[in-house]
Amino acid sequence: MELTTWVLIASVIIIACVYDYWRKSYFKQRGIPCDTILPFLGHYHKFISGGFTEFIHRSAKQHGKIFGMLLGSSPVVVIGDADILKEILVRKFSSFHNRRPQAIDDYPVNKALTRLEGARWKQVRNTITPAFSASKMKPIAALLNDSCDALIKHMKAKVATNPDIEVKEMYGNMTMDCIAKGGFGLQVDSQEDPNDPFVNHAKAIINMNLLNPRVIIASKKFFMDVTQQAMHMRHDKASKRVDVLQLMVDAQETDDSPAESEDMPEIAGGEEKGLHRKTELTEAEIMAQSLIFFLAGYSTTTVALSFVSYNLATHPELQDKLFQEVQEMAPDRDSVNYDTVNKMEYLDKFLSETLRLFPPLLYSIRISETGAHHVGADRVCQDSVTVGDFHFEKGMDIFYNIIGIHYDPDYWEDPEKFDPERFTKEATEKRHPFAYLPFGTGPRNCIGMRFALLVLKMAIVRMVQTFQFEPCEQTQIPIKFGKRSVSPDKGITLRVVARE
Ligand code: HEM
Repeated sequence: MELTTWVLIASVIIIACVYDYWRKSYFKQRGIPCDTILPFLGHYHKFISGGFTEFIHRSAKQHGKIFGMLLGSSPVVVIGDADILKEILVRKFSSFHNRRPQAIDDYPVNKALTRLEGARWKQVRNTITPAFSASKMKPIAALLNDSCDALIKHMKAKVATNPDIEVKEMYGNMTMDCIAKGGFGLQVDSQEDPNDPFVNHAKAIINMNLLNPRVIIASKKFFMDVTQQAMHMRHDKASKRVDVLQLMVDAQETDDSPAESEDMPEIAGGEEKGLHRKTELTEAEIMAQSLIFFLAGYSTTTVALSFVSYNLATHPELQDKLFQEVQEMAPDRDSVNYDTVNKMEYLDKFLSETLRLFPPLLYSIRISETGAHHVGADRVCQDSVTVGDFHFEKGMDIFYNIIGIHYDPDYWEDPEKFDPERFTKEATEKRHPFAYLPFGTGPRNCIGMRFALLVLKMAIVRMVQTFQFEPCEQTQIPIKFGKRSVSPDKGITLRVVARE
C-alpha cells in the first residue's frame, strides 16, 4: 500500500477517535450513564440489531431513570423519573415547551401543531383544542359507530373463510375511516374499497417509503388538495358541520373571539395575553393540521386496538369479564354511544392497562419524505434549569421515556404482568401521577386523546359484542416488540370466533 493511503487511513481513524471521544465525553462529563458508543455508529448498531424499542426498554433497566443515547450524532438525555417529568412537562413547561428542532423542515408539515414552536404553537393549539372537547365528541360517536359497522361486516366475512386474522390491517382501515369522518366529514370507506385513491395516498404517506420519496410527495399533494377542496366547501355557511376542519375554517374568518375554555392548556409561567383566544389560521396551517391528525392518529390508534385484542385473546377470563360488562351496559349496536362507553369502568381499566404495557407512541413517528420526526415525546430545553440534582442546559435534547416509566418497578408492582386492576380509583390515587403517560401530559400532551379513546372504546365494545378472541398458532406469546415501534413487525395474528 502506498504511503498516502496509509496516511489517509490513519487520518480517518484519528478523526473517528476524536469524534468518538467528544460524543462519549458529552454524557461522561455530565455523569449520565449510557451504552458503549461506537465510532461513527454511536448507538445506531443497537437500534439496528435489537430495535429501538428494545434499546430503550433495556437501557432503562440497565442504566436507571436517566441515561444518554445518541440519535445520529445528537446526544439525547432520556428521562424516566416521574418527579423530574412533573417539572419538565408541567411546572417548568415554559422552559421545555418546544420539541427538538428538525434538521430539515418540510413544508407544510412544519406548520403542524407537532412542529410549531413558542407563541404560534400556543395560538394554534388554543384554536384547535375546543374541537376535541367532550361536547364535540358526542355527535361524532354516531359517525364512529357507522365505521364500526363496516369493521364488523368485513371481519365477519374474513372469519368465514379463515378465522386466523392479522388484526392490525383491519383496524387500520377502520381507524382511517374514523379520522376521515369524525375529523373532516370526509366520506372515505377504506374498509369497503381498499383501492380508494384517498386510502392509497394516505397509506403511502403513513407507510412512508423513504426509498421512493416521489410517491410520498405526490401523495402529500393529493391529500392536501382534498383537504383544500373540503375547506373551500366549508366556507359555504349552508354546509356547516361540527368537526375539527370546520373549527379551523371558522378560525380563518373570526379572529380574536374567545375560544371555548374547557380544554385550554395551562401554560406554566403565568398568563400570556391572548393565550386563551382563537386565532386566525392560514390555509397552509389548516392543511398541515389535517395531515398531522391522520398521521399522528392512524398508527397509534390502530396499534392500541391490536394490542387490546391481543390481551383479550391471551387473558380469556378477563375477556369474559369485559364481555359481561358489555352485555350489561351496551348489549347491542344502538346502545353504543359516547355516554355508555364512558361509563364502562372495566373497559377503561382494560384499555388503560393495555396502553401501559404497549404505549403506541414511544419516541416519535416519522412523517415526512425527509425522514424528519414530527410527533414525539421529546423536548428541547430552552433555558438552563436545575431540577432536583439534574442540570438541564440550554439546548439539551430530551426524550421522556414512556415505556421506561411504564415498566419501572418503583412505580408498578410486577410491571410485566397484565393486570387491569392497577387502574381502580384507589390504586390510581396511590400512584405517582406522572408514572402513566401514554398520551403525555401537561399543556403539550396529545390533543387527540379524547378522540382516540372514544374510537378505541367504541370499537372494542362493538368487537367484544360480536367476536371472541383466541390465540392461534401464529400468535407470538409473549409478544416481541417491533424494531421501529412497540408494534410487532409481522403484525398480530389471532383467532377470531363469531359469538352465537
Ligand atoms: C392511542 C392513540 C394515541 C396515542 C397513544 C397518542 C400519543 C401521543 C403522544 C405521547 C404525544 C406526545 C405528547 C407530548 O409531546 O408530550 C402525542 C401528540 C400529539 N397527538 Fe397523539 N396519540 C394518539 C392519537 C392521536 C389522534 C387520534 C390524534 C388526532 C386526531 C393525535 C394528534 C396528536 C397531535 C396533533 C400531537 C401533538 C400535540 C402538540 O404538539 O401540541 N393523536 N400523541
